[in-house]
Amino acid sequence: MNGNLIIKNASQLVTCSGFKAKHSREMADLHIINDGTVVIEEGIIKAVGKTEDILAGFDENRFSIIDVRGKAVLPGFVDSHTHFVFGGYRAQEFSWRLHGDSYMQIMERGGGILNTVLATREATKNELIEAGRKRLDSMLSFGVTTVEGKSGYGLDHDTELKQLEVMADLDNRHPVDIVRTFLGAHAVTKDYKGRESAYIDYLTDNVMPEVAERNLAEFCDVFCEKNVFTVEQSRQLLHRAKEMGFKLKIHADEIVQLGGAELAAELGAISADHLLQASEKGIRDMAENGVVATLLPGTAFSLREPYARGRYMIDNNCAVALATDLNPGSCFSESIPLIFALATLYMNMTIEETITALTINGAAALDRANAIGSIDAGKKGDVIVLEFPSYEFIPYHTGVSTVEKVVKDGNLVFDKEKKG
Ligand code: NIG
Ligand code: FE
Repeated sequence: MNGNLIIKNASQLVTCSGFKAKHSREMADLHIINDGTVVIEEGIIKAVGKTEDILAGFDENRFSIIDVRGKAVLPGFVDSHTHFVFGGYRAQEFSWRLHGDSYMQIMERGGGILNTVLATREATKNELIEAGRKRLDSMLSFGVTTVEGKSGYGLDHDTELKQLEVMADLDNRHPVDIVRTFLGAHAVTKDYKGRESAYIDYLTDNVMPEVAERNLAEFCDVFCEKNVFTVEQSRQLLHRAKEMGFKLKIHADEIVQLGGAELAAELGAISADHLLQASEKGIRDMAENGVVATLLPGTAFSLREPYARGRYMIDNNCAVALATDLNPGSCFSESIPLIFALATLYMNMTIEETITALTINGAAALDRANAIGSIDAGKKGDVIVLEFPSYEFIPYHTGVSTVEKVVKDGNLVFDKEKKG
């Protein structure tokens, strides 16, 4: 696998060109090249442009060639918010919710996250790796080339580290790149109920220094929510996290409007996520402070909650990203086609904005807009080929993946054609 590849004759090369988060109207411009070619050398994009201009400058014999006549090419998708490493399942909770229980009611009577915590503590590292590998294969088939994954199903030193180690291991053995986030502050076990601040101290004193020292996570996140962690507790944790060198994320204003978006802006978080209930001020603060608003419509859909106000946020100058939130409770889905359907049909985002939210803005939500998320010279050779001639087919073929090929670091790693 040498990563030398030319993808030529794309009917549409949807470059999403750019090296930082896109705001408001910029999100609608996909920087498309008709009849385009991409040259990738040693895994890095070397040249992008009109086929006739680009091919003249390269000796095609040194490269593998994929001729994609009649097909559209895009950057690989960036799924910037998931919890894909976990033990066990909670299918029964889905059924309970259909019978009228709410997500929070199930959580308050000891189900929910704590259920998965027990199963994740019990699972061996190999079992978690095996389950994680299958989920990554599925994501790859949807065109995802970088995924973020969180801990948070351990709530103790050993299991939190186990989850992060599993992700580090999977990153080495699977083509999809994994960005790791420490989410020790996802819930508290019974022994810390009512003593959440003591649990935060436990994390900052006994767990996070080792996570930082061993480079096991780049981001620190917290579930800032009524009956989980207050704004003050979240601030306390993230403040310490920042001092230890973590970049910040927040599960903010998901069920109840607490002021998580404002906190993200105050602390200079890279992203604030969920935001179903974000306030006007929170939205303004995020826009002004360059916090990426990461919206997770699959979760609103699964929980039958109102969608985050994506259209309003874009119109008010926020950089909006979209992600799946794959997890065993509130949204057991890694489906990118589902996200396209929900964003376009229910959140009034255009197809172009949705693509931007899943590529360059997803990359920005992981502080990687300079390295992934667009087809630009100098970036990683992470590219997808559609079965169809234009990007408009993505949501049009509703709920079905239109991805035919996935190229990671200049190597073909998924090909629907060859699967028979
Ligand atoms: O992002 N909101 C908190 N955490 C996850 C759900 C975790 C779970 O239910 O297991 C989320 O929705
Ligand atoms: Fe989440």
